[in-house]
Amino acid sequence: MAKATSSLADTPSSPLGLAVIISGRGSNMLAIARASQAGQLNARVLQVIADRDSAAGIAAAQALGLATQVIPAKSFPDKASFETALAEAIDASGATLVVLAGFMRILSAEFTARYAGRLLNIHPSLLPAYKGLHTHERVLAAGEASHGVTVHYVTAELDGGPLLLQARIAVRPGDTADTLAARVQQREHIIYPRVIDWLATGRLQWRNGEPWLDGAALRQPVILEEHES
Ligand code: GRF
Repeated sequence: MAKATSSLADTPSSPLGLAVIISGRGSNMLAIARASQAGQLNARVLQVIADRDSAAGIAAAQALGLATQVIPAKSFPDKASFETALAEAIDASGATLVVLAGFMRILSAEFTARYAGRLLNIHPSLLPAYKGLHTHERVLAAGEASHGVTVHYVTAELDGGPLLLQARIAVRPGDTADTLAARVQQREHIIYPRVIDWLATGRLQWRNGEPWLDGAALRQPVILEEHES
């Protein structure tokens, strides 16, 4: 059960344990795992879990020596029983923080409440704009001048939890959904490990349902501009 006020870094010297949940190729999972293995992040990926056999990220995780597990959602009779199995696997791993990284399922209110304050997601838009799917196509169709990606806490509201860190990029003439996706992904691999570092070092805390960064309530996300790293 989540504490009302919680630092995930109660023992700053021990690495923050992560369960990373994927559905696809897992490039964010790999960026986090590599930062951890390179000693740039005081966190350790304890378990990589995929909801489908076809997730290419599972083999990539194994190549890095990570523990992996596939919990095929389609083999469960309903969402509740899948989520029960997922929660059991997360808890059995000993992970403190649950990292959704290209996980293509909508989680129930029960699941998000169970992991309140220790469940993160990355979404390829500058939330609250462009929740949901096909964000690059929709940004282009709307003629937006800028686009980006957001790391946020997960709550019961889809893509609606408190925003933590965003990377903003310019939309360039001639951009396609693919070129935008590629530039967004480069930034994803910077900002996701960074937010995990904030948690691992105790800079980011969850207090009474709100994120606090460096001792102040974080009501607007921190924004990393394109020229910043
Ligand atoms: C990323 O674009 C992320 O923003 C979205 O799903 C994609 C996952 O990519 N939630 P990968 O599997 O981490 O490469």
